[in-house]
Amino acid sequence: MSKTYIIANWKMNLLPKDAVFQAKQIVKKYKSKKNNNTEVVICPTFTEIPAIAKIVQSTDIFLGAQDVFWEEKGSYTSGVSAKTLKDYGCKYVIVGHSERRKYQHETNETINLKIKTAFANGLIPILCIGETFAERQAGQKESVLFDQLSSALHEVWLKKNDRLLIAYEPVWVIGSGQAVDPDEAEITQAAIKRSLLEFLPATVVSDNISVLYGGSVNGMNVKNFLTKPSIDGVLVGRASIDVDNFEPIINYNI
Ligand code: PGA
Repeated sequence: MSKTYIIANWKMNLLPKDAVFQAKQIVKKYKSKKNNNTEVVICPTFTEIPAIAKIVQSTDIFLGAQDVFWEEKGSYTSGVSAKTLKDYGCKYVIVGHSERRKYQHETNETINLKIKTAFANGLIPILCIGETFAERQAGQKESVLFDQLSSALHEVWLKKNDRLLIAYEPVWVIGSGQAVDPDEAEITQAAIKRSLLEFLPATVVSDNISVLYGGSVNGMNVKNFLTKPSIDGVLVGRASIDVDNFEPIINYNI
């Protein structure tokens, strides 16, 4: 049975003391035994990773980063390597979030390099893809998603135990408070799984890849997404930075 993933993307929202407080609260409130088969992951900013690593160590909560640089080491001012993330205990890394594509000039090519570096260093990449509102209106949603997927995964060969998470996040609903209709998300997620078959073996798509939904997920709508057959988890921004909002999401099963 495949896992259900709940990923907290804290973005640039919390000061150090608030991040520590939220992480401690999440550890306290998460009923992991009743949510078996669920994997909860916190992705703080780089600077908070060491502190949060200590808090989640030996708990059922896992740690992720919001980005990684693609080179292993060297003269790359401000870069953070996959090895450093791994050393701090990160298991996951978000790659290609639409906010990085928009504000930090992330391209499909650099995303591809980051995915490769993540795998080479034993991190699980969470590849974000999604269309803008203009692309959707122009009927380009499928082609945009296919382009993002195929270029991000160009010459990426998954090994037997590798795992890849793909987060479908329609750019126009991120942070809007208005998620897409779960039925529409389900259709898109199923289409993503089908389009992966065009360049990856069927066994890899079924055994090594999970497809998540992201965009204004909250405690009220989370179940509507997680009960869909093609939705393997959720990537949560705003509702993950306050434990009162995040608690019903991580304990969605209860
Ligand atoms: P949101 O963000 O939940 O605030 O819409 C999701 C994301 O950007 O990952």
